[in-house]
Amino acid sequence: MTWREYHEATKHTPRSVRESPHLLDWASMPDPFRHFEGVPVLDLPADPPPPETPRAELPDQDGAHFLSQLFFYSAAISASKLSPAGRRYALRVNPSSGNLHPTEFHFVTTGLRDWPDGLYHYRPSSHMAEQRAAGNFPLSSAAVHLILTTIEAREAWKYGARAWRYCLHDAGHAWQCVTLAAEAMGFTVSAIGEFEDDQIAQLCQLPDDERPLLQLAIQQATQRPTFAHFGHLARTRRSALDFEGGEQSISLLQLTAILQCATQPLQADFAHAPLISLFLYVHRVEGLAPGVYRYVNGAPELLIPGDQRVMAAALSLGQNVAGNASVAVSMIADLDLAAALFGDRGYRYAHFEAGAIGQRLYLGAAAQGLGATGIGAFYDEEVHRFLGLTPAQGQVVYHFAIGYPVPDTRLQA
Ligand SMILES: Cc1cc2nc3c(=O)[nH]c(=O)nc-3n(C[C@H](O)[C@H](O)[C@H](O)COP(=O)(O)O)c2cc1C
Repeated sequence: MTWREYHEATKHTPRSVRESPHLLDWASMPDPFRHFEGVPVLDLPADPPPPETPRAELPDQDGAHFLSQLFFYSAAISASKLSPAGRRYALRVNPSSGNLHPTEFHFVTTGLRDWPDGLYHYRPSSHMAEQRAAGNFPLSSAAVHLILTTIEAREAWKYGARAWRYCLHDAGHAWQCVTLAAEAMGFTVSAIGEFEDDQIAQLCQLPDDERPLLQLAIQQATQRPTFAHFGHLARTRRSALDFEGGEQSISLLQLTAILQCATQPLQADFAHAPLISLFLYVHRVEGLAPGVYRYVNGAPELLIPGDQRVMAAALSLGQNVAGNASVAVSMIADLDLAAALFGDRGYRYAHFEAGAIGQRLYLGAAAQGLGATGIGAFYDEEVHRFLGLTPAQGQVVYHFAIGYPVPDTRLQA
């Protein structure tokens, strides 16, 4: 199946949603934690300090402390929830559709102090590193080189054929989780999407159900981190279950800060030109009249005036978050441009970019004292029709909502 056929086949329509059985077999819910058994498991120091002060040269750092800090603020467990049935489940720094966590974090280290060179898998359940092979793995010159993989079956359990889209988004989120954590520690991350999947899968000795999506090379840098108090933001970020409705507005300044942070240029071998543009459903922003805006060159341009709360919720499969938010977002991808630039691979890259923007929206909102929620479920063609987009003008790939979150009583630190 081509990416175009896949995309068409996995669009939500009122009919497809109505006719979908929506039956989840909880007895066969996939385990969101993969453990590689029978290999040495190396401790990462518990509770590493927040990465507020840029550090020294990477190879000179204590390897275990560096890795502990990197993963604690990008991929570790950061909270838990108690379900109404009394079952406790873990939440992580990186968000994930349905909390199913298809993304796994593998990494290769070279020349870290007091840390054996080798191929590792991060074990979030106990914040440890599984040493899957010792020795030299010439993936890049980086001292730490991550390979983000995906286990599609975890998502398919809930989302069926549409699962691949979610896997790609999740990887985009994870990419920025690592990027922003590394940045707070004084490093940059270059993402690599162009590689032979089979070759990397073989090199990383991946099980058959796991596919490589992105490689991340961690490099020296001197640039200023995007966020103050990053450690706290990263570990307390949560998806809002719903937002306070009513009249309370966010300010235009807050919205501008969030959008600026979300649309920073990305560092990747596929980041030639932005593939995603943002359409904003402004519900309650002081200084900006309600309506739908296109976000162009850092400024909102009015497209459709008037209150769109009902429409925003309806387009997101009737989810209240999109209507009760202060602002909802449609991310529109130029999939034709992606394909022209990168062939079949472009489909992945557009979704990675959407996930990356989403992660920056989460943290940008948190930095403003607000909440956010990624929304992977929407009526594709209805969104296009409402926004007046022809297929050549773009396809919706992701929704988002930002606002004042309602307290979540199930949440536990
Ligand atoms: C790609 C993606 C799609 C999501 N789609 C929805 C959605 O449609 N509705 C919703 O309420 N939450 C959605 N979420 C939020 C997840 O449910 C949430 O990330 C997960 O439960 C983990 O919670 P946390 O973000 O607080 O760690 C989505 C998250 C991601 C990353």
